[in-house]
Amino acid sequence: MGRSEFEIMNDKPKAPRPRKRWRRVLKWTLGTLFLALVLWGFIAYWTSTNDCDRYATTPANPMKAVVYCDYGIANLKLQEIEKPAPADDQILVRVRAASINPYDWHFVEGTPYVMRAMGVGLRKPKDTRLGVDFAGTVEAVGKNVTQFKPGDEVFGGRGGAFAQYVCPRATRAVALKPANVSFEEAASVNIAAITALQALRDKGKVQPGQKVLINGASGGVGTFAVQIAKSLGGDVTGVCSTRNVDLVKSLGADHVIDYTKEDFTKSAERYDVMLDNVGNHSLSECKGVLTPTGKYVLIGGGGAGDQGFLGGLGKALWAMVFSKFVNQQMGMMMADANQKDLTVLADMMQSGKLKPVIDRTYKLEQVPDAIRYVEQGHARGKVVITVE
Ligand SMILES: NC(=O)c1ccc[n+]([C@@H]2O[C@H](COP(=O)([O-])OP(=O)(O)OC[C@H]3O[C@@H](n4cnc5c(N)ncnc54)[C@H](OP(=O)(O)O)[C@@H]3O)[C@@H](O)[C@H]2O)c1
Repeated sequence: MGRSEFEIMNDKPKAPRPRKRWRRVLKWTLGTLFLALVLWGFIAYWTSTNDCDRYATTPANPMKAVVYCDYGIANLKLQEIEKPAPADDQILVRVRAASINPYDWHFVEGTPYVMRAMGVGLRKPKDTRLGVDFAGTVEAVGKNVTQFKPGDEVFGGRGGAFAQYVCPRATRAVALKPANVSFEEAASVNIAAITALQALRDKGKVQPGQKVLINGASGGVGTFAVQIAKSLGGDVTGVCSTRNVDLVKSLGADHVIDYTKEDFTKSAERYDVMLDNVGNHSLSECKGVLTPTGKYVLIGGGGAGDQGFLGGLGKALWAMVFSKFVNQQMGMMMADANQKDLTVLADMMQSGKLKPVIDRTYKLEQVPDAIRYVEQGHARGKVVITVE
C-alpha cells in the first residue's frame, strides 16, 4: 500500500547512528589537537632564542671562552666574555686542559633532533657555552666551601669547560687531581671514564673471571673500559680496527678482535658482559654473543652524520622492549658524573691501574677542528684541549 502525502511530509531525517557520531567527534578532536600541535611547534621554533645578546657588551672582567649562538661547528667562536665569580658553594677553577666528547658535537649540531625538543633549543641552542670535562687549578673558593682551597689541582666536569675559567659546585663532579697525572690526562677522565666505570661496575656488574666484550675498545670510553674491566678481574676482549690492535693489547686486553677481519657476532664465544660503545649490530646479534645470564650495556652509537630524529635513542627504546622478551639484561645506560666516582678514578690513576690515552691535543682556538676530528668517529683514546 502506498504512503499518504501526510506521512511523507512528516518523515524526519534520521539521527546519525551513535558509532558514526563518535567517529566524527574523534576525527574533529584529533584534527584540532594536531593543528594545535603544529601551531605550538611553529611558535616554539620561531620564538626559540638564547642569551647571546649578553656577549655584545664588553666584559668588565674578561676571559676567553668558546661560544655558539646558532647550531653548527661553523658557528663556534672564541670570544671574550665575563669571567665567572664563584657562588658560596662553588670554586673558581683556572682551566689548564679540557677534553672533547661526542657529547659536545651532539650539542653543537643539535642532533639527534629530538634533543632540541627536549629543552636543548628548537632553533638555537639555549645554552651557548660548550665543553664539560676540565682539569685546572683552584683560584678562589666560595664562603661555604671546605673541601678545596686556592692552589689545589682539580679535575671534573662542568658545562662551559672550553674556557679559561669554570665554577663547579664543590660537592658535584670535581675531585683532587693526583700529582702523577698531568692536566691533559686528568681533563680526559670525567665523561669517558665515569661512563666506563658505571657501565662495567654498576650495570654490567663485572665479577672476577667473567668474560667481558668491549665493542669500540680504542675510543674515549673504550680505552678506559679495557683498563677498568681488567682491574675488576674480567677476561677482556676488545673490538677495534687493525691500526688499534696493539694499542688495545697494550691497555691489558686478553684478546683483541679486528672488526675489519672478523665479525664478533659470528663467533662461537659467549660473554658475561658486553659493553657496546658503537651500536653497530642488531640487538638479536648482540644477544647471540651473551651467556644465558649475560648483560648487554649500550652506551651510545651512531656517527655525527646519521643521527636523524632519534639517533641512538631509537635503539635504546627498542632495547627496553626487546629485553622484556629475553633472559639476558639488555639496555642503555646514561652516565652520572659525581665526585665519589671521580675519586675512585683518581685513586686508580694514582695507583697506576688507570692511564688515560691521549690521541691529539689542540689549543682553545682550535676547538672546531678538534670537534670535527672526534665527529669522524675514529679517535684513539681522548682528544684534549690545552688552555693558556
Ligand atoms: N650513555 C652515556 O652516558 C655516554 C657517555 C659517553 C659516551 N657515550 C657515547 O658512547 C659512544 C662512544 O663514545 P667515545 O667517547 O668512546 O667515542 P669516540 O672516542 O669517538 O670513539 C670512537 C671509537 O669507535 C671505534 N669504532 C668505530 N667504528 C667501529 C666499529 N665498527 N667497531 C668497533 N669500533 C668502532 C673507533 O675505532 P676505530 O678507529 O678502530 O674504528 C674509535 O676508537 C658515543 O656514541 C658517545 O656518544 C655515551
